[in-house]
Amino acid sequence: MKQHFSKRVSGAKRSAIRELLKLTEQPDIISFGGGLPAPESFPHEELADIAYKEIKENYANVLQYGTTEGSRTLRDAFVQWLAPQGIDVKREDMLVTTASQQGLDLLCKAFFDPGDVIFCGLPTYLGAVQAFSLFQIDKVGVQLDDDGMSVDDLEAKIAECKAAGKTMKGIYVIPDFQNPSGITLSLEKRQRILEIARREDLLVFEDNPYGHLRFAGEEIPSMYSMDTDKRVIMLVTFSKVMCAGLRLAVMITGQPDLMDALVRAKQATDLCTSKLNQHLAARYMLDYGLDQHLEKIRPIYREKREAMTNALERYMPQDEGIRWTEPDGGLFIWVWLPDGVDSAEMLGRAIEHKVAYVPGAATYVDGSGHNTMRLSFSSSTPDQIDEGIKRLADVVRAEIAAKVVGSL
Ligand SMILES: Cc1ncc(COP(=O)(O)O)c(C=O)c1O
Repeated sequence: MKQHFSKRVSGAKRSAIRELLKLTEQPDIISFGGGLPAPESFPHEELADIAYKEIKENYANVLQYGTTEGSRTLRDAFVQWLAPQGIDVKREDMLVTTASQQGLDLLCKAFFDPGDVIFCGLPTYLGAVQAFSLFQIDKVGVQLDDDGMSVDDLEAKIAECKAAGKTMKGIYVIPDFQNPSGITLSLEKRQRILEIARREDLLVFEDNPYGHLRFAGEEIPSMYSMDTDKRVIMLVTFSKVMCAGLRLAVMITGQPDLMDALVRAKQATDLCTSKLNQHLAARYMLDYGLDQHLEKIRPIYREKREAMTNALERYMPQDEGIRWTEPDGGLFIWVWLPDGVDSAEMLGRAIEHKVAYVPGAATYVDGSGHNTMRLSFSSSTPDQIDEGIKRLADVVRAEIAAKVVGSL
């Protein structure tokens, strides 16, 4: 039946890692694989009360179709929430999407033709890679330093694309506690990337699911708030700050014509995002406050992150060039293993030892990164984290020993 497939789907790969990680759903496996938010961070009691009331008393509205742009109540609540963060937007600058994954799909639909170039980090978010691939976008990887995307490498890649006559459209950045690496883009680099985008007339897609989950260190302004010529489109999802199951996010642009293209793309995709879900989120923001909620949930992640870095320190081999990030927020720690260790090959052995992670290579659009892995600390308890890292360290130690023996 493959003759019926579109070229676009034929070229899109099912994520091999997601398939492998299905194995990790067995209860005795400690999985650092999934990037799921901690369930104890969900405001379930409050949402249950709001849902009962909204469906009972406001059913004609919330069980109806809504506008493509999204509920006014939700967008207004969002405007109020963002203002103290220095993000000055109007309701009309916002499009409610069926979470940020749809936002990525809409960006591709609205702004890219097959073969157009997007610049993205090495590594970058796997779901974005999948969306870009489905639209046959040319993904050009840019090196990540400890303070985010390398500006020098971005310049070099732009020069290469120009020499090859490619059409460059945009830069995709996850500025705070990036998925998968946990790396944060410095203020200076945010500024430099905006300058480059202006010079080359590129759009900047600022995808920021984790910035509000900062539990230490100084906040850095969003690129959207620093942008003077409205070329940044920002995606802010509810998935990590409230809950993932409502499937809600807001996409923000100060350019009415960009918004118009996005609205047209969304109309053909799903007409509108669930109105009920939008109202649940809006009422939660208005009646309980998202900032109060964030104050409660940040310590949950801080404790887990500390448990993981402490365990890495305690158990991982120290003298093999292994290193990891220590993010001040978000859900992920990134580990570099010694050269020659392939984390995808090692995953099967880790699963035998009842521990799992995401091998890094799939998040490198240039095919590198085989010696890297992503560890998510969000959905395990501190005790499970300690035990899981202990098991993982044993697997890594055995892997290194096998490589050394193999090379003799
Ligand atoms: C960087 C990034 N963008 C987008 C998403 C998609 O999130 P959602 O569709 O739940 O908003 C994720 C999810 O993990 C992510 O890490």
